[in-house]
Amino acid sequence: MKNLIEEIKNLKEEKNAIILAHSYQNIEIDQVADFVGDSLYLSQKAKETNADIIVFAGVYFMAQTAKIISPEKKVLLPNLNAGCLMADMINHEQMVEFKKDYPDTPVVCYINSTAEVKAECDICCTSSNALDIVKSLNTQKVLFIPDANLGKWVERQLNGVEVITYDGNCPVHNSVTVEDIKNTRTKYPDSKILIHPECKPEVSELGDYVGSTSGIIDYVRNSHDKKFVIVTEKGVYDRLKRDYPDKEFILIKNNMLCDSMKLTTLDEILYSLKYGVNEITLDDEVRRLSSNCIERMLKVSK
Ligand code: 13P
Ligand code: SF4
Repeated sequence: MKNLIEEIKNLKEEKNAIILAHSYQNIEIDQVADFVGDSLYLSQKAKETNADIIVFAGVYFMAQTAKIISPEKKVLLPNLNAGCLMADMINHEQMVEFKKDYPDTPVVCYINSTAEVKAECDICCTSSNALDIVKSLNTQKVLFIPDANLGKWVERQLNGVEVITYDGNCPVHNSVTVEDIKNTRTKYPDSKILIHPECKPEVSELGDYVGSTSGIIDYVRNSHDKKFVIVTEKGVYDRLKRDYPDKEFILIKNNMLCDSMKLTTLDEILYSLKYGVNEITLDDEVRRLSSNCIERMLKVSK
């Protein structure tokens, strides 16, 4: 493994490449990553970098977003099968059909969506800025796709804004129930419960903190508390256990695993970087249209 890591690092330097890794990735990938974080942070890094090549250790929509905002760079996704179940819940046709009945209502798309879907939307958001993005529109009604849970969570935070949601969700987060949280609270009364807003809004309501993957990690970093229940994918729990050995972490359920996020391996990163394969490509028109909503989000979330 040591050789593999060295080889990837050497190739990065030789090819002027960076590796962006999402916090749900297999933890060993952090050893070669330049930046590890949530989807907003990684898209900001994709925009800022002077590298010629971006290797995205994440899922398809993340690499595609990097290509949309940095079209002159080569963007590689080491395992092209790494999709997102939520992003796959709405295609271009379904998007057009959904917004047909609301011609004057702004459309907010969660970053977990395809470029073709983003091309039909007004502004993008991530789990860390969804509230600010909807607020920035200064309107009483928005359409929100594809995550109904995040959309309804935002609606609960904003008195008087109607959020009309599409019927999509992340099966990993959507599987957490109110009972799961109540039982865990009873079992660990002295813990803080940290929840990703892709969970059902009635679940998020019960958390001590609700935020993105980076938000959850930052909460632990800044907290004097010692025990935390992690209600998101296991990658966040693994990193917290590694980085804060003096604190205690409980994963809400054993099966908080995103199969797609675990597909990418160090071998595949090496192969893709060495041979420049598994490149993300985009139709010019789709790229142009989808970049509007991402650029607009990045301006709000500097
Ligand atoms: P973050 O924006 O918190 O990185 O979430 C992305 C994601 O896919 C969560 O399931
Ligand atoms: Fe998509 Fe859910 Fe996996 Fe996140 S955890 S990438 S929303 S399937």
